[in-house]
Amino acid sequence: MVPRLLIVLALLTAPALADRVPLTKGERNLDTAAGWALFKRPWISSPSSLEAGGGLGPLYDARACNECHTGGGAGTVAEGALGAGMVVRVGDDTAGADPTYGRQLQTHALPGFVPEADISFLWSTEGGLRAPKLGSPAFHYGAPATATHLALRRAPSLFGIGQLESVPDSEILKGSGKPAWLTGADGKRELGRWGWKATASGLPRQVEIAFQRDFGIATSGLPGAAGECTARETPCYGTPGPAIELPDNFRDVIVIFLRYLHAPDPRDEKAPGFALFRQTGCLSCHAVLHDAKGEAVHAYSDLMLHDLGPALADGIADGAAKPSEWRTAPLWDLGENLARGGLLHDGRARSIAEAVEWHGGEASQSRAAFKSLSPEKRKMIEDFLLGSP
Ligand code: HEC
Ligand code: HEC
Repeated sequence: MVPRLLIVLALLTAPALADRVPLTKGERNLDTAAGWALFKRPWISSPSSLEAGGGLGPLYDARACNECHTGGGAGTVAEGALGAGMVVRVGDDTAGADPTYGRQLQTHALPGFVPEADISFLWSTEGGLRAPKLGSPAFHYGAPATATHLALRRAPSLFGIGQLESVPDSEILKGSGKPAWLTGADGKRELGRWGWKATASGLPRQVEIAFQRDFGIATSGLPGAAGECTARETPCYGTPGPAIELPDNFRDVIVIFLRYLHAPDPRDEKAPGFALFRQTGCLSCHAVLHDAKGEAVHAYSDLMLHDLGPALADGIADGAAKPSEWRTAPLWDLGENLARGGLLHDGRARSIAEAVEWHGGEASQSRAAFKSLSPEKRKMIEDFLLGSP
């Protein structure tokens, strides 16, 4: 349990639950309210961590979950300097981290420290499609390894993830994709399901990764006051501080809150668009799974990895995924995702049809089937996915 005093403090500083966080009256209990408060709370630096509200840094990308997943939704995708909602993933094609910059660039630093890099991006348009082009970054700790690539990842919408969490591994393993097997902290095999490349197996783990990479705050799962700083990054690396800055129960109430982010309203599978969605082969990856109680989860993701071809590959392998492999993205909250800037892992697609246009590799046939439909029928698929009547 979270210490009562801290909850009261959190509640006092938390604005009312936003409209987009559709907790029913019965769900607005102490845990969900505290979780929402912590989700919105801007973390600050402090030697003695949470009691004083801190632990941020020395290097970080944002100060609150809500900066990137505003109201629990997707991050904002906009060209220019990296704003809330986009991060720069770092790595090579063998799933290795960069020896200096780790797995994510931290573009902010506490006073007295230097961020890893200044970086921005622009859209480059070719054949009517746009893709992000990173400007030459100004690195502040030397050049990265020659094998290192940099690429953008946008913050996905978090609505519905509680329902996806309740799908058992055995259900996912029935699918036809590649399972994202990871090695857990205890050396055991775990099935990855969170992140664009299914790099985290459980929600608590995903939240620990966020605290380490986005905030530089240490958890019991990912300890160390230096956050994601490597030994090559001094003075960040040598900064004194507690090995664990966030108590487990803070992480746990955030997870409880995430589980309550309801799925947006189910789509109408009697609509003609659904039959076309099935007919064009979308459903083979964007599948309907069943939770432990046998209830259908209409996220339209098999939670497996698929090779979508070279056009989406960005040189970075992560977890079990090769550079061209991605977890089938759940097709939830798409209207809001589009309103915030775009679809796919880096927000490059300005419509559902553009997202399909980028589907190559294993999805080539399905893309061809989609393109061979009349414009009216393609629109029926889009309307079905957007939940439009
Ligand atoms: C700096 C921006 C940023 C901040 C701050 C941030 N996230 Fe994220 N989040 C992301 C990005 C980017 C991804 C996708 C990462 C990837 O797959 O490589 C992500 C992925 C996730 C996922 C996985 C969702 C899915 O469908 O697989 C969860 C859950 C999540 N974040 C929760 C949180 C929580 C809770 C916090 C606060 C403790 C947080 N995030 C803070 C950017 C952010
Ligand atoms: C072989 C598997 C596969 C098939 C078939 C497939 N997809 Fe996908 N889809 C994916 C994967 C994997 C992603 C994530 C790619 C990325 O982010 O780079 C994705 C992403 C998407 C997205 C973007 C979602 C978001 O939130 O960013 C949309 C929209 C989409 N697919 C629609 C479709 C439609 C419509 C069809 C059928 C015409 C289809 N897909 C067929 C695997 C597939």
